[in-house]
Amino acid sequence: MDYETIQVEQRGAVTLITLDRPKALNALNAQVLTDLLAALAALDADHSQGCAVLTGSDKAFAAGADIKEMSGMDFAAMYGSDHFSGYDRLVQTRKPVIAAVAGYALGGGCELAMMCDFILAADTAKFGQPEIKLAVSPGMGGSQRLTRAVGKAKAMEMCLTGRMMDAGEAERAGLVSRVIPAAELIDEAVKTAAVIAGMAPIAVKANKEMVNAAFETGLTAGVQFERRLFHGLFGTADQKEGMAAFVEKRPGNWTGK
Ligand code: HXC
Repeated sequence: MDYETIQVEQRGAVTLITLDRPKALNALNAQVLTDLLAALAALDADHSQGCAVLTGSDKAFAAGADIKEMSGMDFAAMYGSDHFSGYDRLVQTRKPVIAAVAGYALGGGCELAMMCDFILAADTAKFGQPEIKLAVSPGMGGSQRLTRAVGKAKAMEMCLTGRMMDAGEAERAGLVSRVIPAAELIDEAVKTAAVIAGMAPIAVKANKEMVNAAFETGLTAGVQFERRLFHGLFGTADQKEGMAAFVEKRPGNWTGK
């Protein structure tokens, strides 16, 4: 399939999605959302694919929502179309999506990275919610996801001042899972995604769903949700295979059933 604003490549069982609006530092316009939703729907539908990596360029993962596209819009246009609500569909992707972030991840770019299941950062990565400088605010979940990821103090400072966090600070604060030398970012992200794609597919979905539930529910309900999904995995053929393979000291051979 042809996309206007992204490039999509399959590397084995990993779908590598690259934002491709270099002249605008990968600013997120309406077409980017359309393309991303189509690529992620294709990922979910393709049994040969187990995990995606979403990345940008060396200079920018994405420098935000497209300011030029938004600048003329008024309240009625924004509210009337529930602008940016389409991104809610993106987080419903059932297979894991890893953000591989080099350079700027600002505003909607930072929010897009945080919608992914985890973030691997190049040592060049810079995260920020600079919307305050435009007299607006995060609008794709940043005030909520950043606060849950790094706590109130850092999130509040970043939203109120527009200060950027470098990769080291982002790792210490828990925003990213690891920092990787920029030249190795894509290879490492694809390698990590391949590990995930090599796991039993139903168990991957269950693990993703239960970790994400920690952001939606209280502890008791979250632990209960986890336990029920865990019980459910004992209804899969892959659970029998996985445990037999352990005992027989061999790799599991998954059927996705
Ligand atoms: C549209 C953008 C853009 C953006 C950069 N560009 N960011 N276009 N929307 N968010 C364009 C520039 O206009 C410029 O186009 C080209 O990309 C290169 O950018 P420069 O500014 O010349 O590059 P540089 O000097 O290296 O500075 C990089 C930068 C800066 C620090 C990342 O571009 C910047 O501050 N961008 C805006 C960051 C931001 O405010 N993001 C939040 C957006 S609001 P031309 O045509 O001049 O070459 C947002 C709202 C979220 O995200 C809420 C709902 C989603």
